[in-house]
Amino acid sequence: MNRSSRRKFLSQAGLTGAGIAAASVFGLPSYSQASGRTARVKLGLVAPRAEFNRRLFGAFLEHLGRSIYTGVYDPGNPLSDERGFRKDAIREVADLHVPIIRYPGGNFVSGYNWLDGVGPKKNRPTVLERAWNSLETNQFGTNDFMDWAKAVGTEPLLGFNLGTGNSEMAIAYIEYCNFAKGTKWSDLRRSHGYEQPHKVKYWCLGNEMDGPWQMGRLTAREYGRKARDIAQQARIIDADVNLIACGSSNTIMPTYLNWDREVLEECYDQVDGISLHNYFGNEPQLSGGKSERFLAQNLDMERQIREITAVADLVQGLYRSPKKLWLSFDEWNVWYRARSHEHLDGKGQFAPHLLEEVYNLEDALLTGGFLNTLMRQSDRVRVACLAQIVNVIAPLVTSPTGILRQSIYFPYALVLKYARGRMLDLEVEGETYPIHAAGLRADFARNEEVPFLDVVATYDAKEKRVAVFALNRDLSNERELSLSFDDIAPSKVLACETVTGTDLKAFNTFENPNKVVTTKLDAMKAGAKMTIKLPARSYTVVHLAV
Ligand code: AHR
Repeated sequence: MNRSSRRKFLSQAGLTGAGIAAASVFGLPSYSQASGRTARVKLGLVAPRAEFNRRLFGAFLEHLGRSIYTGVYDPGNPLSDERGFRKDAIREVADLHVPIIRYPGGNFVSGYNWLDGVGPKKNRPTVLERAWNSLETNQFGTNDFMDWAKAVGTEPLLGFNLGTGNSEMAIAYIEYCNFAKGTKWSDLRRSHGYEQPHKVKYWCLGNEMDGPWQMGRLTAREYGRKARDIAQQARIIDADVNLIACGSSNTIMPTYLNWDREVLEECYDQVDGISLHNYFGNEPQLSGGKSERFLAQNLDMERQIREITAVADLVQGLYRSPKKLWLSFDEWNVWYRARSHEHLDGKGQFAPHLLEEVYNLEDALLTGGFLNTLMRQSDRVRVACLAQIVNVIAPLVTSPTGILRQSIYFPYALVLKYARGRMLDLEVEGETYPIHAAGLRADFARNEEVPFLDVVATYDAKEKRVAVFALNRDLSNERELSLSFDDIAPSKVLACETVTGTDLKAFNTFENPNKVVTTKLDAMKAGAKMTIKLPARSYTVVHLAV
């Protein structure tokens, strides 16, 4: 792109200071309003960008309900292998190519004694697990997770217990996992049959330590100091680890943002990232039960990312630190139905049915929106985890005889399959609709304009591929996306797939598993200017050779 057209694109794309204020739609700098059902998108390689981190598309596996037991580990079931791993779950997760999976919790980790879950299975104690009031047999533990992670081709993201756990046992854990040999804990691992260290590179320093529900909850300053101490020691064991501090559990916490600031004031120099969590829903408080507001909730996620980024950068400034923190959005999903007491209390049972949210079409569309947001914010978000992966608020559900793909599986699979390389710079001009604050919880109460179309695009320079991901929030109308490429020209449409349907509330069951699936759209003509017709209520990807 020559210098003057580059400047023109930058200013039209709202990527210059002046453009941002003029074009702001729900805080999205590169969107501007226009009327009509056609949105115009300019795509270019304006900013020098690094490739985004694929860990953005991670997931989460917690000892909770039927996630581990009967989900991924079910010895004796004919569908399981000799290690007790469900082969159908392995196949599904492996086929998705999930880059990283967080384990073992969640709230669970804050009361977990990792030593109970290693060594000969017959010696492992059964304990009462207190986060979910369930029976934990410890028949699946860290080494089993490592084996499973290998089988599905994913990287582990482990968590330390900063709740009931002390720094001694946290450091013992990383020594057990990552140190080669010749020390108490590394040799214990070797005696358990794991000669080679697991070399886990990403670690969470606890979980949701601001929450009154959390075992061993601390104040921000107490937590920040504990996290700093453990991080400092962990780096002696393994200098290459990436350590993630616990940020706020969600945006309605009374300590939201102050928690993050105080924690980082205590431990900024010792950590690499800070975590964000949030769960969304089409419920009275968050959307007024209105699907058009619900489908805009990825923009609430986007605002949360911007707010936490601002806090991290504030603390960087306070310390005059050369280090910029990245963000780990390591719990996100729709979750609002299976959330009342009976869905959270395991009543002392083994593998109880907890948090078994049934996902419908509108949840799938918003999941596409969340993935768009994560990609759009990928210069700061390095890690993110769809919470979770099997049975518990999950895209995959097992029964004793099979496995089901829920609706949210499909946008997740599309993004995992097609998003590669770096983000393209976009200038989007399109119609918007208003959303209203009245009656909503403070952190969702906004009077804003929301674009009907939410679009991002990735560019894989090596393979010469572009992928365009578009959420059509229009509940009644097809909308057109008119693409014009500035410095790369598509030569062929390789695939065009969509998740759509007439009934926003439709969901899959074992008896009827194909109500919400991906379908193919008629291919359009490829070219530097091309138009895609997006069905009403849809999440679509167009994969192009360039
Ligand atoms: O993912 C379910 C639970 O939600 C996690 O255990 C906890 O971290 C969050 O509150």
